[in-house]
Parts: sequence; C-alpha cells; structure tokens
Amino acid sequence: MALLEVRDLHVFYGNIEALKGISLDAQPKQVVAILGGNGAGKTTTLRTISGLLRPRSGSITCDGKSIVGVPAHVIVGLGLSQVPEGRRIFNILNVEENLSLGGYLMRSHRQLIKERKAAVYELFPRLAERRGQLAGTLSGGEQQMLAIGRALMSDPKVLMLDEPSLGLAPMLARSVLKTVRRIADRGAAVLLVEQNARQALAIADYAYVIEVGRIALEGEAAALASDERVQKAYLGGFESVGSA
Ligand SMILES: Nc1ncnc2c1ncn2[C@@H]1O[C@H](COP(=O)(O)OP(=O)(O)O)[C@@H](O)[C@H]1O
Ligand SMILES: [Mg+2]
Repeated sequence: MALLEVRDLHVFYGNIEALKGISLDAQPKQVVAILGGNGAGKTTTLRTISGLLRPRSGSITCDGKSIVGVPAHVIVGLGLSQVPEGRRIFNILNVEENLSLGGYLMRSHRQLIKERKAAVYELFPRLAERRGQLAGTLSGGEQQMLAIGRALMSDPKVLMLDEPSLGLAPMLARSVLKTVRRIADRGAAVLLVEQNARQALAIADYAYVIEVGRIALEGEAAALASDERVQKAYLGGFESVGSA
C-alpha cells in the first residue's frame, strides 16, 4: 500500500465537475509530478488532498487512514503539507517569523522548532543569511524558498507543491526543483504540480498527466520524458496527450 493513495476522486465546483475520477499514489522518497495544461485540475487535486475541498466521491488515504472530510488543519497535523500557488507568505513578518508560523502546531516544543528551522536553513542557505529580513522584500525565488521552508516546518510525510517554479528565472527554477528532489531524498513523498514539464520530469520518479479532470497518461518519469505524445505536447503547449 502506498503512503498516499487517491482513488477515483470526483470534485465539483457547483455543477461543474472539475475532477472526473483522479487516482494516484505517492511513496516516501518519491517525487511524483502532476502535469497538465491550464485548467486541467492540478490545483483542485492538491486542494482536495489538503482538505480545502471536499470530494463528492472517491477516497484519499494517508498511511492507510482515510482523510476525506478531515479538517484541513488536522490534515497538516497528520503529516500532509501544501505550498499553495503564488507563495502565500506574510510580507510584513521576517523570514524567521514566517518559519515560526509554519511550526505553529508544535509551538510548545521550542527545541523541535529550533531544529526544524536549522534543517530549513541548511536546505536553503540563502534564507539563513536573510533570517531577519521582511519576507515582502525578498526576491521571488527567495519567497518561494520561504514558502517551501514554512511547509517543511511541520516535517510533512507528504509535501505538496503547486507550481513552485512559476515566475522564476530559469536558473532559480532549476535550483528550487533540485531542492525539491533533496526533500524527497530525505524521506518525504513529494507531489509536484508543474507547468514546466521538462524540468519536473527531470527530477521526478513518476508522473501523471491530467487533462480536463482525468489522468490522460502516467508512468515512470524517464519513460514519459521520452514519450512521443508528451514531447509533442510540449511543443504544442500541452494541448492534448490523451487524444494523440
Ligand atoms: N473556485 C472555483 N470555482 C469554480 N470553478 C473553478 C474554481 N477553481 C477552479 N475551477 C475550475 O476547475 C477546473 C480545474 O481548475 P484547476 O484545478 O485550478 O486547474 P489547474 O490547476 O490544472 O490549472 C478549471 O476548469 C477551473 O476553471
Ligand atoms: Mg493550478
């Protein structure tokens, strides 16, 4: 049994069915990429796993326990943490304070918070250098590191990232994705939503391609990267792999 198991998720916004039967697995130490064009249902998938949206049907289990209907803050406590699209950090707080908020659930364990912060600073030395700086004055790449660092403060078993490389210069995007790989190597299962399919596949173990709410393709990342349908879809801006 996989650490995270998602089976046949159906999610609606009003009458619109955004997810039409999504199933996926993630294991510790794995980067699982979720690819697909705009509006495919990637963010909806992550928000449903995080407990921010409730599926109409389907199951989600972590460590064999169902988390459907469990409040979002409890899901964080169970070891699933999401870095939302657009890095929602607190601009008027400094780096250190933003990390403390990420450790909110263990606020009474000061030693643990200290250790987790040290681990984040080890992963992102740039944040260590800027620990007293207001988050709003960080560069886009540094803000993304901080958003990831904050999610890591709860030491998640499953880390979910929604387009972490969005808006970053190519070199920074590569560096952030490399760090994502290191986070998985340290033991977490990582669900990585990316528009930048090429770079995501380069660091992922397994990947799913979502199209209009369904899994159109899935497989080992290396196999998908050399798949003609996937390659064609890159050049065509990810129009369709399912119908290719
Ligand atoms: N809050 C919302 N209300 C209504 N429809 C939404 C909402 N959020 C997303 N959708 C719709 O659900 C579908 C999937 O969206 P989303 O999961 O954000 O896609 P992606 O992250 O792959 O770009 C799209 O058709 C989108 O328009
Ligand atoms: Mg999205």
